[in-house]
Amino acid sequence: MSSLPFEDFPHILDTRQFSATWLLSLFRATKAIEADPEAYCGILLDRIVALIFNQPSSRTYFSFELAARRLGATVIGGQHMAEFSSAAKGESLDDLARILLGYGADYLIVRWNTEGSVARVAKLAGANHPVINAGDGPGQHPTQSLVDLYTIWKEFGDLERPIVVAVIGDLKHGRTAHSLAYLLGKLFPNISFFFISPESARMKPEILEYLHRHGRHTLATTQPKLYDLADAFDVVYMTRPQLEYGDEQERARLTEEYQPFILTPDVVERMKPEAIILHPLPRTFELPVEVDGDPRARYFQQAANGLPLRMALLKELELARLGLLAKA
Ligand code: NCD
Repeated sequence: MSSLPFEDFPHILDTRQFSATWLLSLFRATKAIEADPEAYCGILLDRIVALIFNQPSSRTYFSFELAARRLGATVIGGQHMAEFSSAAKGESLDDLARILLGYGADYLIVRWNTEGSVARVAKLAGANHPVINAGDGPGQHPTQSLVDLYTIWKEFGDLERPIVVAVIGDLKHGRTAHSLAYLLGKLFPNISFFFISPESARMKPEILEYLHRHGRHTLATTQPKLYDLADAFDVVYMTRPQLEYGDEQERARLTEEYQPFILTPDVVERMKPEAIILHPLPRTFELPVEVDGDPRARYFQQAANGLPLRMALLKELELARLGLLAKA
C-alpha cells in the first residue's frame, strides 16, 4: 500500500491522512480542470456515486453532485436522509450504506451528524468503494479543507513561505476548523496559527496537543482583540457559531460570547492589504455583509473552488482505484 497516494486509501476521512506531494498534485489537477472542465467528462461513466446526507448542506452537496455528474457518473441519494429515507424509521447509516453498495454504488459521499460514523462506513465498504467524509458531526470535513488550502495555495503561490492563519469562531464544534488545523499543522512548517474563540468554544485540546507535538507555533486565545491583532494575519478564517450542537442555554451563551469576535469593517480595515478573508460558509452575524465589497474578501471564490477541486478529487480517486483494481 505504500506506493498509494495517501494513508487510508481509498477513503477520504481525515486530513491527517494526506501527504504534501499528493496535495500539490491534486491542486495541479484542479487547476487543469479549471482550465478545461470538459477534458474529464467521461471518467466516471458507468460509475454510481451515492450522496448520503442527514445534516443540511448547500455547497458540499451541490458541488459534489455537479462534480460527479460532470465526470459522467450516475448520482443517487439525497440531502434529507433523516426525514426521507428509512433512517426516519430507525434504519442505521451502516444498513443504508450496505443497501446502496448492494445496488452497485461505487462511491459513497456521506455527511452524518455523529463523529466517527463515516469512518465506520468506510470499514464496511472496503477497499474498492471509496467513502468520502463530507462532515461527521463535530468531527472533520476534509474536503472543505482541501478547498480552503487550494484557495490559499492559489492566492499565495506556494505554501513554504511564512503564512499566519487566524482561525476565528466556534473552534470546539467547527469541523472545518479541526480539519484545517490538522491539515496545515503537520505538513507546512512555516504556517503558524492564531486560534481565537469565545471561552465556551475553544479549540479541542487534542488538536492543540497535536500541533505542539509537531512543533507548530500556535497561539490559542479567548481574548477578543481582533482589532489589535488584525495586522498580523495573512489569512483570516472566520467560522460561524455551531448552534445546532447545544441546548437552548448553551446557544444563548455562545451567541452572546460571540459578539466581540465579529469581523467588523474596522477590523478588516486594519488587515494587511495582501491578506485574505476566508469562510467555509454559511455565514451568520460573525461576517457582516459590509465586508463583501472589501478586496480581501475571498469566500465566494473559495466556495466556487469547491467544484473543480471535488471534480479533481473524484478523478484522482478513480484513477487510483483503477490502479488498485488492476493489481487485485
Ligand atoms: C461547513 C460545515 O458543514 O461544516 N459548511 C460547509 O460545508 N461549507 C461549515 C458550517 O456549517 O459552519
